[in-house]
Amino acid sequence: MKLRTLVFINAFAVGISIAAVNMYFQHKIIYSLVSLLIATIVSYFVFYYLINKYVYSKIKLIYKLIHSLKLGKDLKDALGEYISPDPINDVEQEVKEWARDKKLEIDDLKKQEKFRKEFLSNISHEFKTPLFAIEGYVEALKDGGLEDPKQAQVFLNKVSNNVDRLSVLIKDLNEISKIESGEIPINIEKFELTALVKEVMESLELKAKKYKIELVLKDKYDVPTWVKADREKIRQVLVNLIDNSFKYGKEHGHTFISIFSLHDQILTEITDEGIGINEEHLPRLFERFYRTDSSRSRQIGGSGLGLAIVKHIVEAHDQTINVRSTQGIGSTFGFTLQKAKENFINIPLIG
Ligand SMILES: Nc1ncnc2c1ncn2[C@@H]1O[C@H](COP(=O)(O)OP(=O)(O)OP(=O)(O)O)[C@@H](O)[C@H]1O
Ligand SMILES: [Mg+2]
Repeated sequence: MKLRTLVFINAFAVGISIAAVNMYFQHKIIYSLVSLLIATIVSYFVFYYLINKYVYSKIKLIYKLIHSLKLGKDLKDALGEYISPDPINDVEQEVKEWARDKKLEIDDLKKQEKFRKEFLSNISHEFKTPLFAIEGYVEALKDGGLEDPKQAQVFLNKVSNNVDRLSVLIKDLNEISKIESGEIPINIEKFELTALVKEVMESLELKAKKYKIELVLKDKYDVPTWVKADREKIRQVLVNLIDNSFKYGKEHGHTFISIFSLHDQILTEITDEGIGINEEHLPRLFERFYRTDSSRSRQIGGSGLGLAIVKHIVEAHDQTINVRSTQGIGSTFGFTLQKAKENFINIPLIG
């Protein structure tokens, strides 16, 4: 209901009351009508003035503030702008929506805060392990370890390995934060995926031998598989996934790579015959530093950032990555890429 109507009803009620009293004492209809008219008009203006000054303008201000804050404007903008002609009714709706939005915002912030805490504690743990090891070996060298040159060499090698581990950790963290902030652009080009897969397989041949795993391309794939993606980043994805299939694979087992053509995507799958992953770990597998079996993973010595980087890269392409796994039998990691159409022009896409 409009403010004017509200005020009029009130004023009319006062007018009627006064007219009725008048009628009772004077018994003259004309007097009553005159008093009805005058009382209604006077009450109307008095009520209107008072409500406007002390209630309505304040509600209007609250309405404007909430409405503008909801839109994310600052206070100055909020005060300088007029929005609803009927704030008394709208303010309720606005407050409800505002409260709902704020609740969602707070929930989101709480989640981020939890994630930040976990991240910080993970990061300090990851740094602590190699740092303590370095500290230990340096102490040992200082305390007479240098007298036996053979022993000293062993200690120095361990120091060097741990320094390597620290620098990989820093490199990976740097990479992940750059991809996340969009600092590393995704350079989309058209390329032939099978050729890249073969290239990566060749470069990892020696490593496969070291792990005693046979790296197998499932099919001949003699039909070209053209995709639109950042070739170097996809190389990184393949290397990371194949590297995992070795580290968590089975000696004398296989790593299979398959390429499937979907409707307008190409799906690449990397399958191993290794330890597999328990279902409870699958939802968190792509989080930074997440490891399923910390003793084995730590022993193998990754930083736990590989899959997080892989996921970021795939998602920066607006594509998806998924995993299927059975403990003791093996795991399959699959990611999609956009098929390239004819006459494709290179467009740099900021990820
Ligand atoms: N193919 C796989 N089979 C079984 N477990 C896996 C496989 N791939 C990853 N995992 C599990 O997921 C965890 C996270 O993998 P991720 O690649 O992110 O880290 P990482 O291999 O430990 O270290 P990094 O890749 O940074 O060197 C691993 O530690 C391992 O527990
Ligand atoms: Mg890895």
